[in-house]
Amino acid sequence: MSVHIIPTKITFLGCGKLNTAILSGILSSLPDPPSTFQAPTYTPNEKFLPNPTVITPTSLTACVHHQSTSTSLTQTFSHSPLVTVLANENVPGVQRGDIIILGVEPSVYRPVLAEPGMLDALKGKTLVSIVGGVSVSKLYDAIFHSSPTSLTTSEREKHCHIVRVTLGPSAAVRASVSLISEEAGRRYPPAVLTSVYSLFMRVGEVKMWPEQLQAAGATMLAGGLAFLSVAVEGMVEGAVGEGVEREEALQMAASCLAGLSKLVAGEESPGGVRGKVATPGGSTAAGLEVLEEGRVKELYREALRVTTFRTSRLDDPKE
Ligand SMILES: NC(=O)c1ccc[n+]([C@@H]2O[C@H](COP(=O)([O-])OP(=O)(O)OC[C@H]3O[C@@H](n4cnc5c(N)ncnc54)[C@H](OP(=O)(O)O)[C@@H]3O)[C@@H](O)[C@H]2O)c1
Repeated sequence: MSVHIIPTKITFLGCGKLNTAILSGILSSLPDPPSTFQAPTYTPNEKFLPNPTVITPTSLTACVHHQSTSTSLTQTFSHSPLVTVLANENVPGVQRGDIIILGVEPSVYRPVLAEPGMLDALKGKTLVSIVGGVSVSKLYDAIFHSSPTSLTTSEREKHCHIVRVTLGPSAAVRASVSLISEEAGRRYPPAVLTSVYSLFMRVGEVKMWPEQLQAAGATMLAGGLAFLSVAVEGMVEGAVGEGVEREEALQMAASCLAGLSKLVAGEESPGGVRGKVATPGGSTAAGLEVLEEGRVKELYREALRVTTFRTSRLDDPKE
């Protein structure tokens, strides 16, 4: 079967922590052979193009607000001739791209999308939003906010295609999971989803994901890294207390996480992993009892609940 190689220009509209991670991951993926990035050839609902598609970035434009950010990003990516950084030039930046990855804070996506000239600049393009808590329909509203046209919903949707993607900072090391959501009830051209899918395969695994579960996905993928880092910190501090060098302790914790990650990504349940290590009445069981008495699992559950709730309301002015 033939492979579609599609040269594509990518613009990062806002390039802070997360878009910089995606940009870094994409850059480090470029030397790999295209076959690594083949999107699924077919799904029963015919969402994808029939042939494997490889999105090959030919330019990567990062748009930021402050000149100081622009200077530091230019330095960070000085090794790549594909990267251009622009400060306060969002419309020219969007004009340069085929796929636009919107990565500004939830508080500024509206003015950015309503900038004069943005509506025209987005025509015919795919806008991928990684902005937390902002639905596809709100993004369309923001784009058409200052437009005097009376376009119908379907005319708006044809103007540009908007897809939401949630992923975490481990995109920088191409180890994220990207959750792609289309707006419920809407039919996207297969080429749109295929190109987004194929692009994000460069920074890890990709899944189609219901839009209403975006906040929970963001909590697991981004918040989850932060939550688990608390466990790592506690373990490292404990090991240092026992006389282990901090660096050694960190490496051991990292190796535990890597092992755990492989086990639970395979067939093993978290409880099954505990069962492999702890024997009733044994030393690990004694440590697990301490965690249980401290209600650590319930605290993690509550942290997930609170963060998901807050994420789903990031665009709520009352929050
Ligand atoms: N960080 C994560 O792990 C994570 C996870 C899931 C979802 N998200 C979502 O991803 C989005 C970005 O998060 P982040 O953590 O990367 O935020 P961030 O580090 O604060 O980055 C925001 C970026 O937007 C730029 N920006 C702000 N106003 C702008 C404007 N008017 N024109 C052009 N660029 C502008 C900033 O430029 P300057 O630096 O020049 O001000 C900066 O590059 C948020 O919506 C967040 O909800 C983040």
